Amino acid sequence: MPRMLQDMVVVITGASAGIGQALARELGVRGARLVLSARRGQRLEELNHALGGSHLVVQADVSRTQDCRMLIDRAVDRYGRIDTLVCNAGYGLYQSVAATSPQQMRDIFATNFFGTTDCIHFAVPVMRRQSVRDGYRGQVMIVSSSVARRAIVFMGAYCATKAAQLSIAEALRVELMPCRIAVTSVHPIQTGTEFGRVAEAAGHIRLPSSPVRQPVELVARKMLRAIERPVAELWPFAAAGWAFGLATLLPGLVDRMIGKYRETVLRRNPDMPF
Ligand SMILES: NC(=O)c1ccc[n+]([C@@H]2O[C@H](COP(=O)([O-])OP(=O)(O)OC[C@H]3O[C@@H](n4cnc5c(N)ncnc54)[C@H](OP(=O)(O)O)[C@@H]3O)[C@@H](O)[C@H]2O)c1
Repeated sequence: MPRMLQDMVVVITGASAGIGQALARELGVRGARLVLSARRGQRLEELNHALGGSHLVVQADVSRTQDCRMLIDRAVDRYGRIDTLVCNAGYGLYQSVAATSPQQMRDIFATNFFGTTDCIHFAVPVMRRQSVRDGYRGQVMIVSSSVARRAIVFMGAYCATKAAQLSIAEALRVELMPCRIAVTSVHPIQTGTEFGRVAEAAGHIRLPSSPVRQPVELVARKMLRAIERPVAELWPFAAAGWAFGLATLLPGLVDRMIGKYRETVLRRNPDMPF
């Protein structure tokens, strides 16, 4: 039996744009009770208004532990439980590994990785205490990436944060099985959001756009299904799951294939430092 979306309490980080916003829209029209969180409060208010105005808006920066604690506390104060926590907030950085400054490296981990683990740290004790609803006490959904399984060039720092999220999901999933808390990691390929623009501005390299790009609404609908019927890993573009899995078995061959792509990027960015 699927989990009922009507009245389900779902906390979404990074709800002001892209995947998080599209997921909020899908859940909102199906009667879920949402906690919409991100740094841009105005955008969240507009989204809440578009969804009828009854949801909770929490302006928070997930790179700050105190904001993650406050987000979970406010969700519980308002709704008394959290059925699904979607750790989605994150950004990319188009830059070579060696050119990534120590501060940039720490900053991207602070948002993408520690923002995920801090929210989990505060939310899981809440889920453990709550009653079972439709077979589950709760669900943690972690929006990682396809590049969690095999990193690509000029996105090394970003890929490392996504691989770290995947590791956490794998361990947490088994740890929480006996409590009936599901853990789902999500591994999108390139998706039509603000991601590329933000990553380009953060790192100053222009990357060619991927030949395969999924519409954000499609990714959100697949995530919705994985909230109704939790799975271990969701690969919204199914073939990528197989391709990236295979890539881990043939690292030398894949290095050579990605090397060709590196040359294309270098031609586009002749002034790249290293
Ligand atoms: N788009 C893709 O191609 C793609 C592929 C694979 C995985 N992903 C993953 O999908 C997730 C969502 O990305 P997207 O594609 O939807 O990008 P997006 O359109 O740029 O949205 C990113 C969201 O994260 C929020 N965010 C960023 N830093 C934050 C912080 N410090 N605290 C709180 N919220 C923060 C942003 O809100 P504010 O700026 O208002 O805070 C925004 O709502 C990310 O984790 C990304 O790694 C994306």
